[in-house]
Amino acid sequence: MAQLELARISKSYGALKVLNDISLSVADGEFVVLVGPSGCGKSTLLRMIAGLEDISAGDLLIGGTRANAIPPQKRDIAMVFQSYALFPHMNVGKNIGFGPRIRGESPDATQQKVDRAADVVNLGAYLDRLPGQLSGGQRQRVAMGRSIVRDPQVFLFDEPLSNLDAKLRLEMRTEIKALHQKFRTTTVYVTHDQIEAMTMADRIVVMNGGKIEQEGAPLELYDRPANMFVAGFLGSPAMDFLDAEYDPDGPSLTFASGAALPCPRLRNVQREPVKVGIRPERHRIDPDGPLTLSIDVIEPTGAETHVYGTIEGQTVRCVFRERLSVKPGDTLRLSVDPEALHVFERKDGGRLSS
Ligand SMILES: Nc1ncnc2c1ncn2[C@@H]1O[C@H](COP(=O)(O)OP(=O)(O)OP(=O)(O)O)[C@@H](O)[C@H]1O
Ligand SMILES: [Mg+2]
Repeated sequence: MAQLELARISKSYGALKVLNDISLSVADGEFVVLVGPSGCGKSTLLRMIAGLEDISAGDLLIGGTRANAIPPQKRDIAMVFQSYALFPHMNVGKNIGFGPRIRGESPDATQQKVDRAADVVNLGAYLDRLPGQLSGGQRQRVAMGRSIVRDPQVFLFDEPLSNLDAKLRLEMRTEIKALHQKFRTTTVYVTHDQIEAMTMADRIVVMNGGKIEQEGAPLELYDRPANMFVAGFLGSPAMDFLDAEYDPDGPSLTFASGAALPCPRLRNVQREPVKVGIRPERHRIDPDGPLTLSIDVIEPTGAETHVYGTIEGQTVRCVFRERLSVKPGDTLRLSVDPEALHVFERKDGGRLSS
């Protein structure tokens, strides 16, 4: 196992800079998840760690050794991609054992490794099947088995589950997590899916436009996003943002209609226009509440009621635990606990609340 250290890493394709001054440490045994919008540089960063892309500037250290110039096959890193590229004419056992076999390991040693890896990914009964005779999830497990036989120092995953249907994604997510708990191999995992990120990561790194916006434990980022980008990126349904003015005399957040929502005192902030972030599940039905929700659409999911509408003319989503007998066109009075409010600068989206 190994620690990874990225020190001020940049990547350019000609004049195009796609990664800018990325510094990140991944501790030995840690599970770090990279998230961010399409094109922000997640795959590029992973491919640089694997050695599949040159590093334009900065240092990559694997286990304390500078690895910029070490060829991929000598890095002791296994990478699993979204497309699993199995050999269609080889059965599962042959696919998993491909690495040891071409390295010239003995048939016995190879078989042992294959059996162990197949056991880990629950494919022991499928060793004689061809990839064409497997489901998508089983094929993805073969690809993981092929990485496990290598017993690498570092695992890299690039959106390994995005080709799978919802149920399989969930199963594989749990299996990958269990695998990590068993072997504690240092892992960097890229995903688009922020639920995957929240549930799997020891630490989440949120990227945007070739830079790191924020990193931290999943709930730390969820509860204290450093800016509106991170706040809007993590959470489903996403946080809504309302225009208001901070009034230090309350302290409160006042809206165009004059409604005032009590909030915690913001340090060193005078009266100024702000953005108020509210997570959908933090709205509370309260007949005396300061906010009025005009209801557009109601979606009972069984476990919850999702309500779409407007507050102060601005679109919001509310998630209530209770079942509601309301209809489109109705209004509901709401309040939000002061500590559940996220206040951001209107101008640059930076966090103002503590
Ligand atoms: N070989 C290349 N030449 C020029 N530009 C490239 C090359 N490879 C990637 N890029 C650019 O680098 C940026 C980052 O790409 P990358 O594939 O790392 O994004 P990503 O975060 O993985 O996106 P996605 O979520 O869609 O997979 C993109 O703007 C992409 O167009
Ligand atoms: Mg990618």
